[in-house]
Amino acid sequence: MIEEGVCSSHRWTLFGLLVLLCGVNLADTFGYKPVIIVHGLFDGPKQFLMMSRLIQEAHPGTNVSVQAFKKTLYPIMQEAENGVHLICFSQGGLICRGLLSTLPDHNVQSFISLSSPQAGQYGDTEILKLFFPHYYLKARVFHVCYSSVGQKWSICNFWNDPHQRERFLKSSNYLSLLNGERPHREMTEWRKNFLHINKLVLIGGPDDGVITPLESSHFGFYDFNETIVEMKNQEWYVSDSFGLKTLHARGDLAVYVLSGVKHSYWHSNETVFRSCIEEWLT
Ligand SMILES: *[C@@H]1O[C@H](CO)[C@@H](O)[C@H](O)[C@H]1NC(C)=O
Ligand SMILES: *[C@@H]1O[C@H](CO)[C@@H](O)[C@H](O)[C@H]1NC(C)=O
Ligand SMILES: *[C@@H]1O[C@H](CO)[C@@H](O)[C@H](O)[C@H]1NC(C)=O
Repeated sequence: MIEEGVCSSHRWTLFGLLVLLCGVNLADTFGYKPVIIVHGLFDGPKQFLMMSRLIQEAHPGTNVSVQAFKKTLYPIMQEAENGVHLICFSQGGLICRGLLSTLPDHNVQSFISLSSPQAGQYGDTEILKLFFPHYYLKARVFHVCYSSVGQKWSICNFWNDPHQRERFLKSSNYLSLLNGERPHREMTEWRKNFLHINKLVLIGGPDDGVITPLESSHFGFYDFNETIVEMKNQEWYVSDSFGLKTLHARGDLAVYVLSGVKHSYWHSNETVFRSCIEEWLT
């Protein structure tokens, strides 16, 4: 079952955005599992001070420290007998999926995907202008992204141009592999690894302003005509190529749609934390 949640309002602020990472390790002094935060492109540990504080308030006595990626993440997991939780924001959500798919012995319990373009990104947002100052029309980005050079850029790893399917399938070295859209030898293994998680929590909403289409945070995406095809009708869902359908059938998928939250406010919004995250951190 999909559990839908709607959060009411409250406010406070902070910033952040979409690869780079670090984590916040909340040691389980009081029996709480460590929480590792994987952030996005333009934010860092500082932007997560608020969330760290909320986690500490909810689960007092936790140890917060900043971690770099896979190499440092692994020891945290190994030390945590009862497993860890991952909160992955924006592009961090795709990095986390990559990890969860490729780490055979991870012990991630809850994987919280906070406004992440899980089905890809196709839109003229400010981010594009930043990456492609002279070239940011979405219809043209594929020229850059679907090339071997472009694929070295993080944003291109999840650029999903619905009008360039063939090029996407041929060139995308990340998202198409994760989704199993481009078949590869490790698919069965990756699926098995991914299914070690206990809960997949998808959080996103209509006022995000960056994730395009906004449905991508819930695994929906454009078809050729830029009409949204929801998760359940996506080929990789139907074929269960990476385990999403199985998670759903197991009752381990929680979906939250929240309005009133801009992209850079997701991790600092207390309502979001209380209503959609806190309960999955036990
Ligand atoms: C917090 O955790 C880190 C990493 O596990 C450890 O190096 C550090 O000593 C801990 N700090 C406290 C105050 O427990
Ligand atoms: C997409 O648009 C074309 C041209 O307007 C139309 O023929 C086709 O049926 C549409 N496809 C879908 C899946 O809506
Ligand atoms: C925080 O989240 C709530 C619930 O979705 C929303 O109504 C509110 O506008 C958000 N506030 C900010 C500052 O993002």
